[in-house]
Amino acid sequence: MPFEQRFLDELAARSDIVDVVGSYVTLTRRGSEYWGCCPFHSEKTPSFHVRPDQQMYYCFGCKKGGGVINFTMEIENLSFPDAVRFLARRANLPVPEETQDDGASRLRSRLLSLNRDAARFYYEQLHSPRGEAVLAYLRERKISQRNATNFGLGAASAEWDGLLTAMLEKGYTRAELIAAGLAVNGKSGAAYDKFRNRLIFPIIDVRGDVLGFGGRIIDKNDPGAKYMNTPETVIYSKRRVLYGLNLAKKSKRGAILLVEGNIDVVMLHQAGFDNACASMGTALTQEQVQLLSRYTKELILCYDNDEAGKAATQKALSLLKNTDFNVRVLELPKRLVDGQYVKQDADDFIKYQGAEAFEHLLSGSGSGMDFQMAQLARQFDLTGDRGRVEYAAAAAELLAGVPGAVEREIYTVRAAEAAGISPDALKQEVSRAASRKARKDRREQRRRDLRPAAAAQPRDRSMRYENTKSAMAEQDIIRLLVYDDSLFGADPPLREDDFSSPLLGRFFAALWAQRQEGGKIDVNALSERFTTDEISHLVSITQSARLQSNREKMLQDCLATIREAVRKRSIANGDEDVLLSAYKKYTKHTENRDGGPTHGE
Ligand code: UTP
Ligand code: MN
Repeated sequence: MPFEQRFLDELAARSDIVDVVGSYVTLTRRGSEYWGCCPFHSEKTPSFHVRPDQQMYYCFGCKKGGGVINFTMEIENLSFPDAVRFLARRANLPVPEETQDDGASRLRSRLLSLNRDAARFYYEQLHSPRGEAVLAYLRERKISQRNATNFGLGAASAEWDGLLTAMLEKGYTRAELIAAGLAVNGKSGAAYDKFRNRLIFPIIDVRGDVLGFGGRIIDKNDPGAKYMNTPETVIYSKRRVLYGLNLAKKSKRGAILLVEGNIDVVMLHQAGFDNACASMGTALTQEQVQLLSRYTKELILCYDNDEAGKAATQKALSLLKNTDFNVRVLELPKRLVDGQYVKQDADDFIKYQGAEAFEHLLSGSGSGMDFQMAQLARQFDLTGDRGRVEYAAAAAELLAGVPGAVEREIYTVRAAEAAGISPDALKQEVSRAASRKARKDRREQRRRDLRPAAAAQPRDRSMRYENTKSAMAEQDIIRLLVYDDSLFGADPPLREDDFSSPLLGRFFAALWAQRQEGGKIDVNALSERFTTDEISHLVSITQSARLQSNREKMLQDCLATIREAVRKRSIANGDEDVLLSAYKKYTKHTENRDGGPTHGE
């Protein structure tokens, strides 16, 4: 263990969870608990609560939970030891010499430093003779030197091992280069550079760390993928970063502008739109939304004006639907080339129409709802009655989902006018659609209530229960141990591998060990051995259900269920059924002794 238990206890005592969480979330006291809007998913009504008595937090919405260290790991995106150091600094507590080297955190810091050196290397290459082709490409794309420097753009030359050799010389190992995704292992076993003959975009997070790279081909005839990106590594997860947010977060514009491409971001900043960032070609994620919410409540979506871009806009809008973000959509017009309309992205638009025209589009950008209504209207022929009727039905479905009554009214009238139908008729359609939707929601809720086992499945697929019946009993055992360990004797009633869910088995073993050591159950101390998702699941188990009044009976029932599952598993595994074989042996034994069956017939 890298930190001494005494130090961790002291740290936990000095880092009150209400104080720590309270510096990120506005908390309101309700009885003995504190409630607020969850910082890990976007919501308007609080489902996140902090319990000072247990020094735990839990969100009923996204089911994240844990202790103060977990919270820090999750919100600051830190490893366990880094979160400990972060909290220690906050509490003015000196960190004692770590008793043992912590492998995971060491690798993280090595990779961060390797990436920084690699970015510097690519940057220097750009301004050396080897970078000429990339530099020419920047000129062709009209990216200024100054702006290239602003983004730390660089060049990977055509060599197979330019970066590899330079980084090995600096003392990094091949294994580290591979772990960072900068080198790949060839079939012959020799490693080579991943990025070759490409324009390099360092991907920098909001703290200024270089987490990874994107590399664009510079030669139209290059048969490789247009972009190559760092794969998922111990420091890089594409779901969690937005390209350019390190700069956009400093913008004075207030809103943040979301685009698709790296080049779009670079060009927009150059044209004075320094609030642009990109999700790099993938759909906007919940993690990115959470990250954005730290800097702004105003988003402008400016995706490409082709079908893929429109679909990405719809998807982003539905992700942002029940959040308190104010979302607008900037629709780029198509461009007429030789009598044909072609798609263009923000970079094309700026190049052909200029920054002023873009500013104009920006100020005229409509709400997300306007965008969705316009998209819908395009699907119907509004010149005929039939098209209007179909449009009214589809529009009513969409309008029924608008939360505010005033907003709903405004959009309903607008949609009716656009389609040439009477506002009153459409209003009626909308209220019918709204009650259908409410009925459906209630039905779904009822179905969920009837299937507690399905609802209790962990969110994360890799943790899914194979045997839900046994797993429910296993969860109950864990709950009993946490809340009433007096039910248990000196020896554990189950072994770790009696649990059908390996994760629940590990929880039980870890909690039992804490009990053996004479301490009380402490989630903070588990944060080191379990991932934050695993801890969230443990907290959700302890926070989400009540204990029955007859706990002794509950324990016995659970043990019976689990043991039955163990027995079935061992039969299915082809193991000899222990009970059955013992029984056979017994009857055989009595047969031999008595010369025949004594009872039966
Ligand atoms: P685009 O194809 O729109 O790229 O992809 P772009 O940045 O506008 O580049 P230009 O203007 O054609 O030169 C949008 C983003 O999707 C990711 C990149 O992050 C890119 O910026 N992408 C695209 C990939 O990861 N891989 C690819 O093969 C293509
Ligand atoms: Mn582009």
